[in-house]
Amino acid sequence: MTWEPKIVYIMCSWCGSGGAESASAYGLKYPENIKPFRVWCTGGLDPAYILRAFLEGADGILISGCHPGDCHYDTGNYFARRRLAALKTILKTFGFDEDRVWLRWVGHSEGKRLVDTAIEFNEHIKKLGPNKI
Ligand code: FES
Repeated sequence: MTWEPKIVYIMCSWCGSGGAESASAYGLKYPENIKPFRVWCTGGLDPAYILRAFLEGADGILISGCHPGDCHYDTGNYFARRRLAALKTILKTFGFDEDRVWLRWVGHSEGKRLVDTAIEFNEHIKKLGPNKI
């Protein structure tokens, strides 16, 4: 049996989820091992959610929100970017591969970008192998 990574795809409810809807409208799909998780805005994403997902067996976490300047809550995505940078430093300090978390901006109409990003991340995590936690 081939190993498939467990990936959580966190999307903001505006651009991220909009990108997923746009992809769906064009019949574009991302791999089924990637599970979507919707948050109102990436700015409200608590890093504890990411740590918990890793502790519960996720192999990778992909996060998509609105492009800089397009966040529906003004600066939420800037907060997300800063929080994620801090989290990656913490992960690295503890010897965890911080590249198991990606943050990628996706616009509401960028379904192809969303799917391409998901596929690229899936391949990236396959190369890293299973989460050892
Ligand atoms: S609403 Fe999309 S990142 Fe803030």
